[in-house]
Amino acid sequence: MQWITSLIAFAGLVGSAVASPIASPEKRTSSFRVKQVQRGAKIRSGAVEMERVFAKFTTAVPSNIRVAAAAAVSGSATTTPERFDSEFLTPVMVGGTTLMLNIDTGSSDLWVFSNQLPASESTGHSVYTVNAAKKLVGDTFSVSFGDGSSASGNVFADTVVVGGVTATRQAVEAATSVSASFTQDTNVDGLMGLAFSPLNTVQPQQQRTFFDNVKSTLDTALFAADLISGGPGEYDFGFIDTAKFTGTLDFSPVDNSLGLWEFTTSGYAIGTTRHATAINGIADTGTTLLLLPSAIVTAYYAQVKGIQNSTQFGGFIFPCNAILPTFSLIIDSKLHTVPSDFLNFAPVDAANTNCFGGIQSAAGLPFSIFGGIFLKSQYAVFDMSQATPRIGFGQQTNT
Ligand SMILES: *[C@@H]1O[C@H](CO)[C@@H](O)[C@H](O)[C@H]1NC(C)=O
Repeated sequence: MQWITSLIAFAGLVGSAVASPIASPEKRTSSFRVKQVQRGAKIRSGAVEMERVFAKFTTAVPSNIRVAAAAAVSGSATTTPERFDSEFLTPVMVGGTTLMLNIDTGSSDLWVFSNQLPASESTGHSVYTVNAAKKLVGDTFSVSFGDGSSASGNVFADTVVVGGVTATRQAVEAATSVSASFTQDTNVDGLMGLAFSPLNTVQPQQQRTFFDNVKSTLDTALFAADLISGGPGEYDFGFIDTAKFTGTLDFSPVDNSLGLWEFTTSGYAIGTTRHATAINGIADTGTTLLLLPSAIVTAYYAQVKGIQNSTQFGGFIFPCNAILPTFSLIIDSKLHTVPSDFLNFAPVDAANTNCFGGIQSAAGLPFSIFGGIFLKSQYAVFDMSQATPRIGFGQQTNT
């Protein structure tokens, strides 16, 4: 099956573009962490979220794999949060310029706004300055979306630093053209995909992800996403921070045959009522919502007064003051719970009368998507340190 591709989960979410500096030059251990920034000058509509997620997972996958060299060091970076939870942005130094990138576990390209773009397409963004001597001659990339948005360009091998950790010959996909929706989303200067390298779209020579390039130098070949609702979170690379979750981490084996962090739960719970139906899905930091099989969505909203499946708004909405049950995935027989308040994504009208649900249907997608609504309740460990990749979840301390 050729589903996947790289795509930006986010084009379009956010509003202002201040690049926070990557701070720490200190080098300590071979693990590092990065603070993400949560920005969002506006609430993106639920329908737009839905459109983007479908667009993201319906493009073809290229096939070759290529090895690139890298060397990692260690450090940490701190950034500042903004208001909404639609997306999480992390400062990444690309060829000496700090860009705000969306770290996306649902794609495998690192592509950025560059100085090759006309001003009409790049105004308001920080851009990567290309250097002809670093060009990977002949390599190109092109990503496109179901909603008509797209980006394309050429490719350079350059230094990429995340929280003080360096990949010295990272494939940086430098845009020469981006469509209007990317241009308008001035908080986002590009994307860093941390799914598996076989999904990378560079042709003819496929390229490796940043994590693949640095993982052998880390204490442990894993990274963890600690997305926090309404505040700064962190990506930890090379280590597990046990202070960030309660109880144990519960692991599932990952099926990466589609290049994604795909796994199967042993069930789910609505409130405290458990159901043994397994859910197959992907952990995707680049998707905002929690997309589940229709039967489960229907069962969940049967508990919500005033629920409507709205054609106008493109999904389930309910009165903003509705009482919502919690929703849990059951992993290794333990509940991993999304609190009620996360399940109210955003108002659909200025008067705050109706709100768009954080849970929506995955009908038409090849799998469920455990996006930000779920992930921001968890400490999520993406582990490539073993023969079979695995993913672990611990309930966040603050949820
Ligand atoms: C919601 O309504 C749409 C049509 O607007 C329909 O295609 C979809 O199946 C409905 N979803 C559920 C879960 O009933």
